[in-house]
Amino acid sequence: MSDKIFIFDTTLRDGEQVPGCQLDTTEKVVIAKELELLGVDVIEAGFPISSPEDFKSVVEISKAVNDPIVCALTRAVMSDIDCAVESLKYAKRKRIHTGIGASDFHIKHKFNSTREQIIERGVAAVKYAKKFVEDIEFYAEDAGRADNVFLAQMVEAMIAAGATVINIPDTTGYCLPQAYGEKIKYLMDHVSNIDRAILSCHCHNDLGMATANTIAGIQNGARQVEVTINGIGERAGNTSLEEVAMILKTHQSLPFHTNINTRKIHYMSTLVSKMMRMPIQPNKAIVGRNAFAHSSGIHQDGVLKNRDNYEIIAPEDVGVNESSIVLTARSGKAALNFHLNRLGYKIDKENLEATYERFLKMADEQKDISDEDLILLMEGKRPESNIEISHVQVVCGQPLQPVSTVELMVNGEARRESATGNGPINATLRAIDKIMDAKIILEEFLVQSMGGSRETGKVHLRIKYAGQTYQGFGVEEDIVMASVHAYVNALNKIMAFKTSKAPEQRIAV
Ligand code: KIV
Ligand code: ZN
Repeated sequence: MSDKIFIFDTTLRDGEQVPGCQLDTTEKVVIAKELELLGVDVIEAGFPISSPEDFKSVVEISKAVNDPIVCALTRAVMSDIDCAVESLKYAKRKRIHTGIGASDFHIKHKFNSTREQIIERGVAAVKYAKKFVEDIEFYAEDAGRADNVFLAQMVEAMIAAGATVINIPDTTGYCLPQAYGEKIKYLMDHVSNIDRAILSCHCHNDLGMATANTIAGIQNGARQVEVTINGIGERAGNTSLEEVAMILKTHQSLPFHTNINTRKIHYMSTLVSKMMRMPIQPNKAIVGRNAFAHSSGIHQDGVLKNRDNYEIIAPEDVGVNESSIVLTARSGKAALNFHLNRLGYKIDKENLEATYERFLKMADEQKDISDEDLILLMEGKRPESNIEISHVQVVCGQPLQPVSTVELMVNGEARRESATGNGPINATLRAIDKIMDAKIILEEFLVQSMGGSRETGKVHLRIKYAGQTYQGFGVEEDIVMASVHAYVNALNKIMAFKTSKAPEQRIAV
C-alpha cells in the first residue's frame, strides 16, 4: 500500500491574499463545498483575526463542510488563537494553524528577538491552542532560509508542546529542490519525537520551484502538502494542487497517493479562476487552455498516430473532454485532414493539397482557425463583407454611466443603436447586440496591451450563438475599438456560417 499524502488546501487563505482576488463569504462557501467534493483533507478557511469578514467565512465554511478538517490561521498571539477557536465553533473537525518566524532574518528583523525567545513564544502559543483544539499545526515561517540545527530544536519543542503537524514553509520561494528535500530529511533524522507529528510542505513559487520543492519534501518524509488551486497565492503563488496531484498519479515510481478526485480538477480550476477574477496562463501545467492542445505539424501527426507519443496525461483524468489538435499556420496536412473528416468532409489527396494551400493563407491572416472557419474555407466564402463598422461613440467617466452609440452597415443597410453598460466596452458590445437583435453569449474576452509608445490593444474573444462557438480578433490603438473589431469579426463569421452549406455529418462544437 502506498503512503497517503494529505492535501491541505489554502486557496481560501494564502490564495485569497492575492490583490484583486478577495471573495466574500458566500463565494468562499461555494468554493469550500467544491473542495470537499474534490477530496481535499484540510481546508484552510481563513485568518479570522484579520477581519470580521474573514472570521465570518471561517464560521460559515465550518457549518458548510463535513469531511475535511477546517483550519484557521493565527499568529503566536493569544488573542488570535481565541478568535480562531471562536470561529471554528461549528466545525465538525477543526485545526488551529499557529506559528512564528524561524529564520534569523525574521527573528532579528521582524520580531527583534532571539532564537530562545522565539521558541518560548511558539511553545506558549501551541500549549494555549491545545487547551481548546486537539489538532494543532505549527508553522515555522521562513523555514526555507532557517538554520537546520535551530529548526530541528524548534520543531522538537513544538511537538513536545502538543503540535501534531509541523509546517516547514519556504515562505520566500528561495530553496532549491535538493536543499528543501534535505531540510525535510534532516528534520526526519534529527527530531527525536518526529514520530508524533507529520511534516508539511508549504512552498512559494518565487523562482518557479514550488512544485519541485514540494515533491522533494514528500520524497524525503513529508506527508502533508499545502497547495492552492491554479497555484494562486502571494507574489508568484503557492504550489499548485493540480500539479502535485497529477505528478503523484502519473509517476507510478512514486509510492504515494492522494484522496483527490482528479476528474474534478478542470472544473475546480475554472471555478476558482472565474470567482477570483484571476485568468489562467494558457500554458499553465494541467489546467492551462493549451495544456492538451497540439499545434505544430510534427506533434499533431504524432498524436494522431498514437496520443501517447506526446501526451503523458489522459485529458479525461483531469476532466477535460479530449485533447485538441489546434489549427494554426504551423499545422500540417494530417491535422487539417483530421478536422475536415471530423466535420464530415471527405477529400482525396489532390484536393487536400489545394485545400491546404488555401488553409495556410487563411491561417496566416487569422492566427487561430476554428470549425466555422474551416466550413467557410470549404464553402469558399470569406466572412469580411457582411458587417462593417461605420460609427462608434462612447461617453464615460465618473460619475457617468458609460453609454455607447454604434452604427454598423449590415448587408449594406445602416443600423444604429445606443446602450449603457458597466464599462465602455460592455456598453458598446450591448449596443451591437441590440443592432444584431440576436442572443449572443460572450464566453471569453481577453485584452492585452501591446505596450510601446502607442497604446495598442489586442482583443481575443469567443462568443456563442445558436450552440456554435465563434472566435474574433481585433487590434487597435483604442481597446474599445479593438473590442468592436474583434466582436464584429466573430459576428461576420456567424453571418457567413449561417448562409453556408455545411455537410450533413458535421459535428457541432
Ligand atoms: O508562507 C508562509 O510562511 C505562510 C505561513 C503563514 C504558513 O503562509
Ligand atoms: Zn504561504
